[in-house]
Amino acid sequence: MLPTYVRAVPKGTEQGKFLALDLGGTNFRVLLIDLHGKHVKMSSKIFNVPQEVMTGTGEGLFDHIAECMHRFMTAEGIVDQVLPLGFTFSFPCRQLGLASAILLKWTKGFKASGVEGQDVAQLLRDAVKRHGGFSVDIVAVVNDTTGTLMSCAHSTPSCYMGLIIGTGCNACYMERIENVELWDGDNDEPREVIINMEWGAFGDNGVLEFIRTEFDRTLDEQSINPGNQLYEKMMSGMYLGELVRLVLVKLCENGALFGGKLPNILKKKDAFYTKYVSEIEGEREEHYTKCMKIVRDELGIPNASQEDLNLIRDACAAVSSRAAYLAGIGCATVINHMQRDKCTVGVDGSVYKYHPKFHNLMVECMKQYVDKRIEAKLARPIRKFGPDELYNFNLMLSEDGSGKGAALVAAVASHLAS
Ligand code: GLC
Repeated sequence: MLPTYVRAVPKGTEQGKFLALDLGGTNFRVLLIDLHGKHVKMSSKIFNVPQEVMTGTGEGLFDHIAECMHRFMTAEGIVDQVLPLGFTFSFPCRQLGLASAILLKWTKGFKASGVEGQDVAQLLRDAVKRHGGFSVDIVAVVNDTTGTLMSCAHSTPSCYMGLIIGTGCNACYMERIENVELWDGDNDEPREVIINMEWGAFGDNGVLEFIRTEFDRTLDEQSINPGNQLYEKMMSGMYLGELVRLVLVKLCENGALFGGKLPNILKKKDAFYTKYVSEIEGEREEHYTKCMKIVRDELGIPNASQEDLNLIRDACAAVSSRAAYLAGIGCATVINHMQRDKCTVGVDGSVYKYHPKFHNLMVECMKQYVDKRIEAKLARPIRKFGPDELYNFNLMLSEDGSGKGAALVAAVASHLAS
């Protein structure tokens, strides 16, 4: 529950040119964003972050970022300009202000040394100085959930919650200042602030043990950060495929799959990609073309039977529907806590975007747990409410929170400062 210092959502009238950086998933992106009210023009470039950079030294990581920025700014012809920059840094940070963020702990496979406990805005400034040839004006450090909320609120004012179900999983929401025990900023209007929940770490104190399975425990033990991010490890893209693989290994050991003979490929950690889960579940149940192709061609298991394919599909469905329900329950709890008349949840991330059933499964679950609209609950409502009117929430795909959202935070920040 980390206060972000982001207090106002965009008005939709923000203007100007901004730079944004996005670090936190599988890639690193640099973006140039031109805001003209509701019109947004963007150009961006994706850079790879090699494994050895993710897990090397902090200096190496930030030097890599500075080098990518320099290349992008040169190509865009803006290397001489100093534009306001929003830095989407999608890891748990204690913010000391909008433009100062101390990394508490790496998550999602990152482990660069010497960054935990440091201000990442300062590390970036230092790296840019070391590089030379350009300057930056960092006006905000933003979590991707915050960016997603802001990006969605730009078009939909009832958006009070942001959710990411991608490589990692996390949520943020708009809280009233009087409820924020950690708040040390001013009490001026607007008396609200976005809270980065870092809910991926829910369960790290043991409260989820009653639902964790042997597969969750094995996955955690073999991960880069055992004991951490236990809720996230049950539902995000970095882990779903691996959970399915562990289930398949067990089915094989029990003799139920592949005649009890475990193919070598499935002995390897992370060999079953999360994208397979989305692809397999995207196919109609009576068809097996995709599933067969993945098992035969991609995994190289030539003699899988119809029953094997059935079981693989069941394992994918079990793992991903559990993930969607867990995400749905989290959202329902936050929505019930906020007590807004209407709440749109802005959602982004590869699992939500590409898994064909995730959205519907989440909504199905949320309908069970979100409080019904007060009018509909009255003993004698003025009118009959249709099934879709009973609830005050909806989930909306909010694309590019990490780019556009970061620029909007930067814009709102420059606007409030001016
Ligand atoms: C991890 C990070 C969190 C981020 C999420 C989604 O949970 O700790 O900050 O929002 O992944 O990218």
